Amino acid sequence: MICPRLALIAVVAASVLAACGPGGTAAAPPSPGARLYANNCLACHQKDGAGVPGVQPPLAATPVPVGDPRELLGWVLFGERPDSLPRGQYAGVMPQFGYLSDDDLATLLSFVRSSFGNHASAITPAMVAEARAAHRAR
Ligand code: HEC
Repeated sequence: MICPRLALIAVVAASVLAACGPGGTAAAPPSPGARLYANNCLACHQKDGAGVPGVQPPLAATPVPVGDPRELLGWVLFGERPDSLPRGQYAGVMPQFGYLSDDDLATLLSFVRSSFGNHASAITPAMVAEARAAHRAR
């Protein structure tokens, strides 16, 4: 005889598996930009780009992420501080990301500029290359 409680557990387990398994409501795989963001920025700026108050700034509703691409690139690649990001607002320190490839930086920063409620223009690999050249000339 099958214990009715066991049968109930089996039904619940089956529906949980159906909901989580392949073909269920599994989320779509992340885009390349989302993956680059997750690997390089998410730990500090958080999944939703909201940052951590007083420690790391949000990447939405702030000027640098959606502003002049040259300022954004100078900051993210080389830590060149834009005027709109006065020193001393945040306890955290941001590493520099100039070691990422032009393609990866373009994909990553275009993702940031079109996520978290942002609607700014894309960054191309050529713009990243230009920012490197401008930095070298300084
Ligand atoms: C270790 C934590 C950390 C990581 C990782 C990090 N950041 Fe930051 N980020 C910060 C902090 C802290 C600041 C503010 C720094 C300051 O004012 O000195 C900042 C500032 C910024 C700003 C300026 C925001 C504003 O208010 O204008 C942008 C844009 C930005 N980060 C983008 C990125 C991107 C893109 C990545 C991933 C490639 C990234 N950050 C990774 C900590 C981090």
